[in-house]
Amino acid sequence: MLNIGVLISGGGTNLQAIIDETKAGGINGKVKVVISSKENAYGLERARLNNIEAIYETDEDKVIEILKENNIDLIVLAGYLKIITPKFVEEFRNKTINIHPSLIPSFCGKGYYGEKVHQGVLNYGAKVTGATVHFVDEGADTGAIIMQETVKVEDNDTASTLAKRVLNVEHKILKESIKLFCENKLSIQGRRVFINE
Ligand code: GRF
Repeated sequence: MLNIGVLISGGGTNLQAIIDETKAGGINGKVKVVISSKENAYGLERARLNNIEAIYETDEDKVIEILKENNIDLIVLAGYLKIITPKFVEEFRNKTINIHPSLIPSFCGKGYYGEKVHQGVLNYGAKVTGATVHFVDEGADTGAIIMQETVKVEDNDTASTLAKRVLNVEHKILKESIKLFCENKLSIQGRRVFINE
């Protein structure tokens, strides 16, 4: 049973999906601590409602300390808006994953977060978007990709309607990726991640 730490900055629907799946026994892991970079993030309330330690902390050294104190085996960035420093990446290399609401390497990196991602998709006229789960490295949304799933862009989509459909896919592939990690079924070779079923 792995110890999972989730870092958030907002509503925490991805966090909720992880909590629900661990409680349902679908993931061989337990969310041990939730750390938010925003004091009023509703995700902290979601943690409290599930008797999970919920901490507001903006100092990265303190975040690292909390994760180590809790013997965290897997860190999930779920709507976490702070930039992770190389120190953090090195400390938890290949044990930190992120969920991004587009098909990386499109519509990602600096400035692409939240609805800005989906507005970029619409502005470009892309016909397909989706979500990506990847390991976190020193770059912004540049780590090795674990899983992706597509979402068709509809002619009448707005950034908001598209975001809602992508969010459902985020929840799905994030749960699947965490399950595989906790079952030690992921292996990394350079930029490629292989699933050893
Ligand atoms: C989601 O689109 C996620 O991909 C992005 O932040 C948005 C909110 O996520 N990183 P959540 O509801 O806070 O999990």
